[in-house]
Parts: sequence; C-alpha cells; structure tokens
Amino acid sequence: TDSDEPYVPFPEHGLTAGELRGRLRALRADDVDWRRGRIWSLIYWAGDEHDEVVHDAYREFASENLLGPTAFPSVATMEKQVVWMLLDLLGADPQLAGGTMTSGGTESIILAVKAYRDRARAERPEVSHPEMLVPVTAHPAFLKAGDLLGVRPVPVPVDHTFRADPAAFAAAMTDSTILACASAPCFPYGVVDPIEDLADRTSERGIGLHIDATIGGFALPFARELGRKVPPFDFNVPGVTSMTADMHKYGYGPKGSSSILYRDRSLRRHQFAAYTDWPGGILASPTLLGTRPGGAIAGSWAAIRFEGRAGYRAIFSEVFEATDRLQEGIRSIPGLHVVGEPPISVFAVGSDVVDMMAVADRLETRNWRIDRQRDPDSIHLIVNPTHVPVVEEFLDDVRWAAEGAPAAGIGDNRATLYGVNSRLEAGTDVATAVLDQLEGRYDT
Ligand SMILES: Cc1ncc(COP(=O)(O)O)c(C=O)c1O
Repeated sequence: TDSDEPYVPFPEHGLTAGELRGRLRALRADDVDWRRGRIWSLIYWAGDEHDEVVHDAYREFASENLLGPTAFPSVATMEKQVVWMLLDLLGADPQLAGGTMTSGGTESIILAVKAYRDRARAERPEVSHPEMLVPVTAHPAFLKAGDLLGVRPVPVPVDHTFRADPAAFAAAMTDSTILACASAPCFPYGVVDPIEDLADRTSERGIGLHIDATIGGFALPFARELGRKVPPFDFNVPGVTSMTADMHKYGYGPKGSSSILYRDRSLRRHQFAAYTDWPGGILASPTLLGTRPGGAIAGSWAAIRFEGRAGYRAIFSEVFEATDRLQEGIRSIPGLHVVGEPPISVFAVGSDVVDMMAVADRLETRNWRIDRQRDPDSIHLIVNPTHVPVVEEFLDDVRWAAEGAPAAGIGDNRATLYGVNSRLEAGTDVATAVLDQLEGRYDT
C-alpha cells in the first residue's frame, strides 16, 4: 500500500477517480477506528446527518478563497455571520465587539498575542520587552506565539484545584505585562481557570485578559443552557477582553476553522496587517493566512445554521450524559479518581494508588487509543457522541486495567507526548528526541 512506500517520485500519469478512491480508502487501513469510539481525542463528530450537511457546504465552497472578499462576498458574509453568532453566544455587545475566523486554535492564539503586542507598541512604547502571563496549564500555542512574536511568556502556577492561582497571577504582573491569558477549560484537566477573580486583578492594572475557549467556546455555553454548573468564563465577565473559540472542535465544524473574538473591536485593528509597497498590489491581511479556504468557513457556517441552539443542546446533552456515566463509573473503580472539577466533557483520570501509565498500556492491549499525561499521571478523555455506545465497554476495560496494574510510583517515568500515544525513555533529551521523531516522520 502507499503507507509502505519508502519513496515516491512525481507520477507521469494520473489514476482514474475510481482507482484513487480505492487508494485513499487503503491508506486508512492503519488509522484509528474513531467511528467506533476507540480514540478519546482529535475527532469531534456529531452524527452522519450533521457531517453530510457540513461536508456538502465545504464541497460547495472548496474552491472559493476569502483572500478576495470582494470577489466572494458569499464567503465574507458567512465569516461575518459566524463571528456575530459566536459573539452572541459568548455574551459580547454586538455594537462594540468584533472578530475574525481563523484556521485553528493556534492561529487564533497567535493573532490574539499579535493584537495585544501591536497595541502595546502603539500605546505603550516604553515597554521594550513585552510579557504575557500564561498559566502552566494553558496550551503551548501561547508559547509558540511568544516565540514568533517576541512576547515573553511568564508562567503562572496552578493551585490544588489545577486552576490558575489568582494570587500568583497578580504577583506576576509587571510594568511590561501586555496581556494575561486563561483557559476555559484548559486541555490537560478540563478545568476552567477562576476567570472572574483573574479578571478583577487584570482590570485593576488595566491589562487585557484573553480567554482560550478553544475547547469550551461551544461546550460551556450549552452546558450552561442545559442547567449544568458552569463557572463564569466569557464576555459576561467585565474584564474579559478577548476570546478564542474553535468550530473545528466542539462546534462540530470542519477542520481548519476557529475564531478570535474581541470585546472591543478596536483591538482587532492591531491583529490586521497592511503591506503597501509590493509590485503585486497592496496586501491588507486580517489573519495569518494568505489564501483563506472558503470550505472551512462555509462548513462552520452550515454547522451552526443547521444545529441552532436547540441542535447543539441535543448533541451536548448526549455528550454530558455519557460523561456523567463515565465519571461515575471511574469513581466507583477502587483507586481511580477524576482530576479536579471539570465542568464539561474533557477530563483526566488519575490515581494515588495504581500506575496510570500501566493502566494506559493495558487499555491499549484492548484496542483503545489512550492519551497519557504527567503532573499528575493520568489518562485524558474528550467525550463525543462516538463514545455513547462504548461507555460500558470502556468502563469494564478500565476496571480490568486498574486491577492488573502495578502500584503507583514503581512504574516507568517516561515522558508523554501530547496528542500521541508514544512515550520517550527516561533520561533522553526530550526536546531533541521529539524533534528527531518529527524529522523521522518525513524522511524515511
Ligand atoms: C485549550 C486549547 N487551546 C488551543 C489549542 C490549539 O488548537 P489547534 O490544535 O486547533 O491549533 C488546543 C488544542 O487542543 C486546546 O486544547
């Protein structure tokens, strides 16, 4: 199969459409069986009918390019409407607020950091070495943004609830702080930082607070609508100045689709860039990308229009019901616990008694793909409708895995890789080893 080819030259002749379809399907042979709920990350799926609608819209606009909004007012309108609908969902004032769509959570975060950096350059020229507060649980996209944009991330510890510590947050602010960040929820434990408290402290100092609701942008508002206990996290909290929310996660849009949203759209202006001296013409660019795929925008527009609030409530009530069953089941297994108090369907399972890395290894022998984490040792679950039929099977297997696992503290101490289920031997230079692995993926 194609997966076994060590090297492939550029083909002289093409394949037929039928041959190609066969090759594409064959390529999938070793992929995880996500449709049967065997993976707890990377995939967000809300049913075949939903997929069909979204994929249709994607296909309809797969060629269109929002690099030219005047050529494609269709796509420009859909982007504008997606942003408006999200601002409404997240409690922003439509008279003041604004945003853009982007290609993913990482791009949204990079753009947020750029906006605050460029505003600081314009309004606080005395800040020569800008800093941003980044809780240690915040996504590494903030570190990537800091690297790219020359904004130094200042790590802020979390407290015993795994949420950013407000006192440490306040203590970390300096005259060079241009931005503070928090998560709703953070990826590792699915807990929401104490955003009201953090916002009080940043507002006092006149510092912007960006909320990364990449995961929670849809799940948290609908959890709230379903009457679940949801801490304040969005523009309803006065000091929250910007947010990121992904359609390509719990918005059930196509991959390549996220948003960056501002309480006051004057900040968005600093996200934009204009290049005026190019022989090719003037380039005014709202986001990082040049060409902006129409399909991703149309697909997300279609997802929201197809579901409406009622449709998302129905999806999430299924997801949360499965989550509750999973968490109850896990709490009933001796030695296992849910880490912290995660309000939605992203959570970690830890233990003071059994070795969670061994639990993960044992689960994999039963054909589950398991994401492992450190601090504390835990396995990580993001629940979706794909998991509804496998809750009981999974719980039975977790019970079996925990019963046969060695005690905590005597297992291995290998590093874990985010989003990947492989691990590295203790004692290796971890960064070098993962970069070697990355290279190996391209060059064999
Ligand atoms: C909380 C959080 N922020 C940001 C990101 C980055 O998003 P993306 O992978 O779409 O770039 C993720 C991805 O899982 C995330 O969980």
